[in-house]
Amino acid sequence: MKVVNLTQLVHMLSDMLDLVGIDDLHHSKRVAYMCLEIGRIFGFEANHIQNLYHAALLHDCGVSNTSTHNHIIKEMDWPGAPEHCARGSTLLGNLTLFRPISTIILLHHTHWEELDPGFTEWVALSGNLIHLCDRADALIQQASSKPWLSIRDSVRDKLKRFRGSWFNPELMDAFLDISRTESFWLQMQPHHLREYMAERELADPQPMISTNRMHQVAELAAEIVDTKSHYTARHSQGVARFSSHVAKKAGFDREMCSQIGIAGLLHDVGKMRVPDSILEKPASLSFSEKAVMLGHSFESYQILHHVKGFEDIARWGAYHHETLAGDGYPFHLTEAELDMPARIIVIADIFQAMTQERPYRPAKEPEVIITALQTRATQHKVDPDLVKLVVDDFETCMQIADIRS
Ligand SMILES: [Fe+2]
Ligand SMILES: [Fe+2]
Ligand SMILES: [Fe+2]
Repeated sequence: MKVVNLTQLVHMLSDMLDLVGIDDLHHSKRVAYMCLEIGRIFGFEANHIQNLYHAALLHDCGVSNTSTHNHIIKEMDWPGAPEHCARGSTLLGNLTLFRPISTIILLHHTHWEELDPGFTEWVALSGNLIHLCDRADALIQQASSKPWLSIRDSVRDKLKRFRGSWFNPELMDAFLDISRTESFWLQMQPHHLREYMAERELADPQPMISTNRMHQVAELAAEIVDTKSHYTARHSQGVARFSSHVAKKAGFDREMCSQIGIAGLLHDVGKMRVPDSILEKPASLSFSEKAVMLGHSFESYQILHHVKGFEDIARWGAYHHETLAGDGYPFHLTEAELDMPARIIVIADIFQAMTQERPYRPAKEPEVIITALQTRATQHKVDPDLVKLVVDDFETCMQIADIRS
């Protein structure tokens, strides 16, 4: 049975969440770094520190679209912010693995003076600390063209004005204390931040997690990416269900079917980097829009392959636009390089997408789907034996992949 490191998986989710900023990368990681450093000098207990760190990395999991991201970065106190806090909190609260941090996420844009006193102290402090570091990073990003050390005084001065109103006074003092040093700011540069994160993975005191819990993390990722556009709502879920079903029919054992299902859930995580305007465009894409879209499966690979134990899942998921003929993308793999699980995800992605409406076309009828798959098999794009298996089991495949039913 495969096991993976929980902090590596949370890093993977944060890699994905950070892509919503398109070119503003590493937001959640800078927030997590600041929270952890302040949490340590503030005296948070070890188990709370671990939860705080994961909560900080996932704090914006309720944000799937570029426009919401832009508002919360460009405006210090955007009135629409509570919506993504509630959404993120609900998403995490639905999973046993992340339930302990869901309330922290709910509070990450609530001002200290407006906090309900009924919350447990460490939850209230954790939520408020993320709020403080999140606003610090908004100011950092607003001045991102300037050298790192030239902005620290203005960031500190601007935040200080909210001591006691937006931010807990002791947390604010801890921030002001730790942010005096140059090293605090320099550590947030991307290459140093990467090293910092790698050290955290080694320090993770949590046990490795197995397939069932990996599935929970993958479901969360799928939900976030599918929410980017209402056209793709639950697409990844449909691909996962179809993939596991076909894998079982093809003779794979239970564990492999689950792993293939996880690859199905995660295949499109790289779409987080595609702007909403392209995903929702009700017409054919221009040459440069297509170029942006073509990058998404490579981005999926980049997000997934860092997780130790996810090597196969990363390949199977990221190869979903490859073909047996070698004219797919982004790696132009050949028949010999596409194993059966990868071939299953290729068909699952095509099949599920055809059952759904897209901005530029309606959902396709069953006969059209069958003909399209058979044509692709003839053209040596997809595996002909798998197409036969799917056509012979068409009604069940349709029910499983078409998540509207
Ligand atoms: Fe936020
Ligand atoms: Fe944020
Ligand atoms: Fe897809």
